[in-house]
Amino acid sequence: MAKIIGIGKYVPEKVLTNFDLEKIVDTSDEWITTRTGIKERRIAPKNTGASVLAYEASKIALKRSGLKASDIDLIVVATITGDTPFPSTACFLQNHLKAANAACFDVSAACAGFVYGLAAGWQFIKGGLYKNVLVVGSEVLSSITDWKDRSTCVLFGDGAGAVILTASKKDSILSAYLGSDGSESEILMVPAGGSRLPASEETVKNRLHFMKMKGNELFRIAVRVMVQAAGKAIKGAGLEFSDVDLFVPHQANERIISAVSERIGIPREKIYINISRYGNMSSASSAVALCEAYEEKKIKKDDIVVLDVFGGGLVWGSMVIKWA
Ligand code: ACO
Repeated sequence: MAKIIGIGKYVPEKVLTNFDLEKIVDTSDEWITTRTGIKERRIAPKNTGASVLAYEASKIALKRSGLKASDIDLIVVATITGDTPFPSTACFLQNHLKAANAACFDVSAACAGFVYGLAAGWQFIKGGLYKNVLVVGSEVLSSITDWKDRSTCVLFGDGAGAVILTASKKDSILSAYLGSDGSESEILMVPAGGSRLPASEETVKNRLHFMKMKGNELFRIAVRVMVQAAGKAIKGAGLEFSDVDLFVPHQANERIISAVSERIGIPREKIYINISRYGNMSSASSAVALCEAYEEKKIKKDDIVVLDVFGGGLVWGSMVIKWA
């Protein structure tokens, strides 16, 4: 069984506001705010690897856990903007941390990556293979954002969140539910740079190394599957929606969060929302939101916290945590 003993976050210093974006593409603060709830996002310095953001968040999580880097025996990094196509960003992070005793791998589950990574870490501990697991969601989405495409560039930001899980007598993760639908993979993707369409002059010219998204289609699916995932995870924990103390959804669009919470009947004061300050940070979004909720003392011991996420793949998931 496993419990969370440390949590940390890091966002780059540079703030890019909606007003700044008005100078880059044909958009307005009014459009972005009413359609998404985003006011600003953080942008990492050019050529920063996701492992660098992950390192900053992990140092804080480690300090809070009371463990040393050498105590970590598994590092899982959820990212779609890894430092390089390979090796894994988890390996780069291991080197920054000098966590020499850790096995390392990455999880590719877009905005659902942090919950997928947590579920993996939890199961590795439950299975008895590892004792102390570092799970990180880290993204430099600015590196795959097309700054000429107003339909996507207003949505995303950079950041990282980290959690340390350790073996314990009682499980603080009560349940997890993960789902996917590969038939919808073309709705949100970076088309080039993989084996299907390796980098070439043509792919660069056609801007195929940037995110492409069919926003309205995603919106509808996101609401449906997030409602379903939260329901399954809460039922899996033997609880009701009324037992939830804090709902921490993926921060892609405030209207998605409102639609999901209305359908499941969770009141606004029980939902953690920070999208206005960061935009969508993919796998880092729910990790950073969880960390901020903790830092703002919105989570107390024994509270029931529900993560609910959705992203490109398509993938989704929900996890119920009894805060230890
Ligand atoms: N500024 C001004 N106008 C814009 C902008 C912009 N930044 N972007 C689009 N528009 C225009 C469009 O061109 C369109 O104009 P038209 O009516 O003249 O054709 C109009 O605004 C409406 O566009 P829609 O795309 O229909 O706008 P919508 O209300 O659907 O909002 C949005 C778009 C915000 C992208 C929304 O669909 C959304 O949030 N979708 C979900 C995204 C998501 O969940 N992603 C999650 C996963 S991310 C990951 O995995 C990495």
